[in-house]
Amino acid sequence: MIRSDEEIQSIRDACIIAATVLEQLANSVQEGMTTYDLDQIGRQAIKGLGAESACYNYRNGNHIFPAYTCISVNEEIVHGIGTLHRVIRAGDVVSIDVVIRYRGYIGDNARTVLIAPVADENQRLVEVTEQSLAYAISFARAGNRVGDISNAVERFVKRHNFGIVRDFVGHGVGATMHEAPQIPNFGRRGSGALLKPGMTLAIEPMINLGTPEIKMLDDGWTAVTADRKNSAHFEHTVLVTDEDPEILTIPKK
Ligand code: MF3
Ligand code: CO
Repeated sequence: MIRSDEEIQSIRDACIIAATVLEQLANSVQEGMTTYDLDQIGRQAIKGLGAESACYNYRNGNHIFPAYTCISVNEEIVHGIGTLHRVIRAGDVVSIDVVIRYRGYIGDNARTVLIAPVADENQRLVEVTEQSLAYAISFARAGNRVGDISNAVERFVKRHNFGIVRDFVGHGVGATMHEAPQIPNFGRRGSGALLKPGMTLAIEPMINLGTPEIKMLDDGWTAVTADRKNSAHFEHTVLVTDEDPEILTIPKK
């Protein structure tokens, strides 16, 4: 979808809030706290900025998401639900995904935080996932196609032999959380929808240390790696322009 200048400004505002909340959560994660505690910090931060969680009460079939943010630890890939039963431990890999609505528009972003002491393989996993996102964003240019973004992630990650999750994808975002086009983290160069100035896209590689295969937990939301090895997730909302892509989910200084 091509956004009007007014819509783009509204999406910008929403994205800055999403990024500010995510940064606050990333700075708050500590060994010993529960993922429920972290989610509650998110709830308050979102409220404090005059926004609302787009995750809370989000519906997928019969399942209604019960938390304010998604917190996915270690083998959890995405859509983890903060709970008093999960304590964050030394060495954990904590993925935090914040999606907020502000004045009718959505901002969506995620990142993975490492708790000390950091194992080398986790450090590499997180670096490669973050770098694959930066590389993919560099292809979010007018005249390119969705497949150029997808292929960039795939090409980057394959060199490092990690598992690329195929069951979840990036997406258009703006007035609702998930809009066309879908943006897989694998694909052919030059395939898929043409990118045009004014499109807002959530690009989000989800990368596993081991197998790309996933399993769903009984809660209907939490996706975990089939081999229970660790997973990382980075996401930005990006505006396609006439020039360089603009990353919208950067917190205000
Ligand atoms: N960034 C995630 C996504 O695009 C956020 C999902 S929120 C939830 O799917 F409600 F579905 F958990
Ligand atoms: Co998303």
